[in-house]
Formats: sequence, structure tokens, C-alpha cells
Amino acid sequence: MNSALLEIGNSIKSLRQEAGLSQGDLSKICGVERAQISRIEAGEVNGVSYYTIERLFNSLGRTLEPIKLEEKKIQDLHPFVKWAGGKTQLLDVISKRVPDIYNRYYEPFVGGGALLLKLQPKFFSINDSNTELMAAFNCFRDDESFEQLKKLLVEHENNHSEDYYYEIRELDRSPDFANMSQVEKAARMIYLNKACFNGLYRVSSKGYFNVPFGKKEKIKCFDRDNFENLRQYFNKKHATITSIDFEDALKDVVYGDFVYLDPPYDTWEDKDSFTSYNKDAFGKDEQRRLAKVFKELANKGAFVMLSNHNTEFIRELYSDYIIEVVEARRNINSNGQGRGTVEEVIITNYVKEIL
Ligand SMILES: C[S@@+](CC[C@H](N)C(=O)[O-])C[C@H]1O[C@@H](n2cnc3c(N)ncnc32)[C@H](O)[C@@H]1O
Repeated sequence: MNSALLEIGNSIKSLRQEAGLSQGDLSKICGVERAQISRIEAGEVNGVSYYTIERLFNSLGRTLEPIKLEEKKIQDLHPFVKWAGGKTQLLDVISKRVPDIYNRYYEPFVGGGALLLKLQPKFFSINDSNTELMAAFNCFRDDESFEQLKKLLVEHENNHSEDYYYEIRELDRSPDFANMSQVEKAARMIYLNKACFNGLYRVSSKGYFNVPFGKKEKIKCFDRDNFENLRQYFNKKHATITSIDFEDALKDVVYGDFVYLDPPYDTWEDKDSFTSYNKDAFGKDEQRRLAKVFKELANKGAFVMLSNHNTEFIRELYSDYIIEVVEARRNINSNGQGRGTVEEVIITNYVKEIL
């Protein structure tokens, strides 16, 4: 049992007893069924909405105490890679819609992690199916990998040229690739991201990185200050970093957690937009599977937020929830041109007043 949940149940029980109320009395005051109050007091709050809990606390003369543990934020913390679909430019719009209070932060399609690094939650689980990207996040967790990563990136910077780029790019075609260490793979991924055309991550049907050279004579693989800040942030025991399927990465979500879902975009059928991040394209069936997971998380009482393109298909899938349309500038597409605006949607299962 999650201790935060038990704590909520215990607090309600002791406040009720202090007020000299039975569960039946409380039920009459706040309109929540007695049996449900009994379950909540026993810590069984999965599937109970946040507002029910808030109503119970309010009826007992209290406001819901924040269960999100605040920490002093690190200034100027930002993604270490440019990522297709990266949310940097929609960050203000998205972060204003994040609940003020939540327990654990989950981001199963983390990409560059722009929102994570802005919010800097203390307890978090991040995931992405891209194993080299997650290997890179892992390098910020201990001094040894961190120092080695920086050393390898400096080597890449010093050796940088068109020939060198293609030599490093081709490594994943060799059987020896499997023997490369996680830090070596992470450094290769960051180098390719900085040196390739338009900071695009794209692999062929065989899973080989196949973006052409970016034609930059000199490159900088990392910003030293940002790296030190990332090391400071990821140096925590309360973080889980995985590279598995999104559904598995969300198995532990419970009442009061916040989940941000930023999957590969749905496409307009008639548009040739950039959507394929890896060899397993995220098609309509995957979007449907995600919508089912969204519903399960919402039923557990988690706060869920999802962003995607404003397509009819997505609006239909999430018609039971709150859908807001926002405009986004497109950063990366397949040919590097046509950087117009596109409409995106932000979908939530909760209401938040935007000030
Ligand atoms: C839109 S991007 C996320 C962008 C990110 N929010 C950012 O700010 O950079 C979608 C991510 O989903 C990942 N992905 C695709 N299929 C996945 C799956 N089945 N499970 C987990 N991650 C997946 C891709 O590797 C990609 O990094």
C-alpha cells in the first residue's frame, strides 16, 4: 500500500473522530456514501476522484494539504538533446495546466523531458522506448558515468568532421554495437543528435540511425552548466528511469499521481507529417491503446494530461474529457521546411483554473 494513500485515509479518519462524527454523519454532511468513506479511511482510494477527497477534507473544515513535496528549483535546467515533438515552446501553456498538488510525476514518453525539467518534481518515473536516450538520462545518476559521458563527448567534439560523423553513425550496423557500454551508446546518441541534420532522431526499418550529416564545421555537444545542473537534479533516490512500453511504465500509478502523456503525434491522413520516431511507428491502434490507458488512469483517480495534434480521430478518442486547442510552432519536420503553426490539443481529466 502506498503510504501517501494510507496517510490520506488516516487523516480523514482522525479529523472525523476529532469532530465527534460517525462515518454516517460525515456522509450526510458531504454527500459521499458511507461505504465509500469507510474504504477511503482504509486507504483504498484507487478510483476515487480527487474532488471526493477534497470534499471530505472541506467538510471537516480543512483544505487538502499538498502531498507534492516542494524542493528549491534549480534555475536554468533544460533538455540535453533536441527532440522531435519537444515541448519547449508550448511549455508555459502546458505547465499552467499541471495540477498544483500531486504525488508522483509520471512521463512515459519523456523524449527530451522539457516539462519534467521545468517542473522538477521530487518523485518521478520517466520512460521512453528509445533505449539510448534513456541510457543518457541514466548517466546523470552517478558520478562515474557522468564523468565518463563528459569525457566521451569532448572526444566526439574534437574528432568531429563529416567522415567522423558517418563513422559513428554506422556503428549501429555492426555486431559489436551490442558490446558498447551504456555510456558509450549515450555519448554516441548525444553526438549524433548535435551533429546530424536538424536535430532529428530517425531510424530505418532495421532500426539504424539514418539522418544525414548536419554540415556544421564545429559542434558543441553539451553545455557544462546545464550538465552540472542535470547531475544535481538526477542525483536522487526517488527517481525511476526505464525504457519499456508506455503501458508497463504506468503500472504503478495510483490516486493523486500526475501523468503527462506526450505520445508520437497522430497524423492528418492527407498530410505527410513527421511522426515516425523509431522503427515501430505509433499508428492509430497505438493511439487507441493509449486512450484506453488514459481512461484506466483517470478511473484510478490520477490527474492525466495528454498532448497531441488536433485531429478528428484524437478528439473522438477523448470526447469524454476536457479538450483545449492550442497553437504550436512546428520545430522539426521531415524536410526541414514548412515551419508553420499547427493546432495541438491538451486533454485533461480534471479542471484547472488558468490565471
Ligand atoms: C512526442 S515525443 C516526446 C517529446 C517530449 N515530450 C519532449 O518534450 O521532448 C514521443 C516519444 O515517445 C517515444 N515512444 C514511441 N513509442 C513508444 C512506446 N510504445 N512506449 C514508450 N515510448 C514510446 C518516442 O521514442 C519519443 O521519444
